[in-house]
Formats: sequence, C-alpha cells, structure tokens
Amino acid sequence: MIILIQPSSKSELVSYPIRDIVQEAMKLEKLGTKMIYLNIGDPAPFGFRPPQHVLDAASEALTQNYSGYAPSSGDPELRQTIADFEKVSPENVFVTSGLSEGIDFLFQAMVDPGRNIILPVPTYPLYLTKERINYGTVDFYDCDSNFEPDLESLRKNINKYTKAILVINPNNPTGAVYSRKTLQGILDIAGEHKLPIISDDVYDQMVFDGDITPMRTLCKDVPVVCGNSLSKNYIYPGARVGYLAFHGEWGTMPDVIQRLSNQRLSVNWEMQRAYIAAIKGNHDHIHKFNAELKLRRDVLVKRVNQIEGLSVAPPKGAFYSFIKVESNKWKNDVEFVKGLLKEGVVVVPGSGFAPTMKGNYFRLVFLPKPEQLESAFDKIEKFMKK
Ligand SMILES: Cc1ncc(COP(=O)(O)O)c(C=O)c1O
Repeated sequence: MIILIQPSSKSELVSYPIRDIVQEAMKLEKLGTKMIYLNIGDPAPFGFRPPQHVLDAASEALTQNYSGYAPSSGDPELRQTIADFEKVSPENVFVTSGLSEGIDFLFQAMVDPGRNIILPVPTYPLYLTKERINYGTVDFYDCDSNFEPDLESLRKNINKYTKAILVINPNNPTGAVYSRKTLQGILDIAGEHKLPIISDDVYDQMVFDGDITPMRTLCKDVPVVCGNSLSKNYIYPGARVGYLAFHGEWGTMPDVIQRLSNQRLSVNWEMQRAYIAAIKGNHDHIHKFNAELKLRRDVLVKRVNQIEGLSVAPPKGAFYSFIKVESNKWKNDVEFVKGLLKEGVVVVPGSGFAPTMKGNYFRLVFLPKPEQLESAFDKIEKFMKK
C-alpha cells in the first residue's frame, strides 16, 4: 500500500542551493564527465584535517563515561571554557549541534510571522531558509563593491518588523573581512534602533590578509550574540558542535534558548570534550591553514583577473569567493553554472546567496590545491571563450 502524504507548506520553503547543484553534477559524472567540486565549504575532502590533539581528545572521550545525554545547555566544562574565551558568564553560553542549530534556535526564539532578522546581501543561505520557514519577511542590507556592509542601506532597510541585525564576518560567500569602522558603525545603528546583533563568527580565525576585529571585543551597550563552532576554525565540521554566547543585556532570551535546548535533550558529548581541547590547546594549525589559503587565494585572484568577463573582490578570510560574470552571454547565473557543469566545474549560482543583487555571480570555494585550482580555471577560461 502506498500512502500519499502531502508535504507540509513549511517543508516546501526549504532550499539549499549549495547541495542542490550536486544532484546535477552527479548526473553528468555518471555519464562520464570528470568533475572538480568547488561548491562545498568543507576542508576534509581537500586533505585538511582537525588538529591531532582535538582528534585525541575525541577518542579519549570515547573511552570514558560520555555516552549518556549531556546537560542540554552543554558540558559544564565546555561552557566555562567558551565563557572564558568570550568573556561572558557560563549561564549565557549554550552549546548547539553546530552553529546551524544555534541559528535555528535564534530564529525560533526571535522571529514571529511577519518579523525578520535583517540579513546582509549576499548572505549564507541557511539564514534565508530560517527566515522563510518561520514565515518571517526577508529584508536585506546591501554591501559595497568590496562586500563591506553599506551602513546607509542598513539604516534605510531597518523597519518596525526588524528584530535583530545579522553580521557574518569573515563572510560566506564573499571572503570579506570587515573593518573596525564598519563594525562600529553597525553597532551604532543597532544602538540607535535598540536592536540586538547576531554575530556569525564561524570563520573568525581564518584571516590571511590583514587583521580581524571580533565583534565580541567591540560590543559594550548593544546586546550581541556571538555564534561559533568547531567546524571551520578547527577544521572539524563533522563533529557538529557549536555555540551561542550572549553578551550584554538580553532579558529572558537566554531562558528561551534554554527551553529550546531542553526539547532536543543534548549535543554529542564526546565531541563537546573535543571542543574543550580545541579552545584550550595550541592553535598552530590555523597559521598553517591560513598560509595554505593565502596561496590558493592568490591563484584565484590572478586567474580571475586574466579571464575576460570575470571580476572578483579579493577574499581576505574564509575560503570563498563571490565572482562576478561581467559578460552578458548568459541569461542568468543558473544558466552560467549549468553550462560550466558540462565543462566539469561545480560552483554555486550567486542568486542562492543574493536574491536581490543585480548582475550574475557565482560562489567558488578555493580549498583545492593550487594546481587543481589552476586546472579548474583553465576549464572556466575555455568556457568563457566559447
Ligand atoms: C557563515 C556560516 N555560518 C554557519 C555555518 C554552519 O556551521 P556549522 O557547521 O557550525 O553548523 C556555516 C557553514 O558553512 C557558515 O558558512
């Protein structure tokens, strides 16, 4: 017997452009096209591994008594370790299953239908999905040509339905690292409008050009919730551990997050123990990783500048670039990306990150070895010349 169940309206609002494109790529691969995957922000397939002491802490935890449910707000020692790092009290720290779950909690806790968290454009698509499935309105603030937030646009687009301002620094999908002046400007606007800030800091150690000023070091009067995880800074996305840390006066919001955490019982305890080792241990890996990223970024910028019809604002952090297609040979970004797929290069259409931005963009992950990037760009160049 087959039962046909109509999917919920909410489920139909979920999309994930970064993975959706893989289905198309796999079809072509089956037919014999050799693919270079530049679509997923995961260092593991490109040979990058978590620091050994973090892996050791995870295996040691497996031999100890961490097989039960952890406290729903997180392992007490991990909460304290994060609290020391963020300079907040441990009661204001909540461990989540990756920052993805933290983002989910924040939207559940703050966004009623018709309300919104104002997002930068371009943005990380999970925020768009969460806005939509909470039946929020989708409001954006623009960035300038270097992908630095445009403060005037932020001021203009805040409205009575805005509940918070999202900042992603370093940024996915652009690799931009914001100046201290811009961050201060965002804090000032938040203060004027009495709005809290959500600071997505998952790439905050991954800066290879200039410095970063973490939002946690600037916020004084404005409430800021900082989100981070083991995934990127410690190259361990499969561990699925992250956190939210509330800075400043948030009223009952931490209680609401505690309630939301209670319903899903716990985050994987062994991996929480690994996160303690990550924060407390040496950080040599990040210097090596950033040096590797800089090499790759340089290849990317050199090649984009050589190809007629493409341009890019050089990324300074993370491992993403948001490349503009200047040529109007293609109807839209999806047509461009599908064409490029046939050449064996998988990238993500820009509209998934930037539904309101004019022009055609695509996101390219520059994690592969320089020589693999070079060969991906040979294919892109050939495609552009066709
Ligand atoms: C900007 C940003 N925030 C959050 C996440 C989610 O990270 P996590 O693995 O901690 O859930 C990602 C993952 O790519 C990301 O790019």
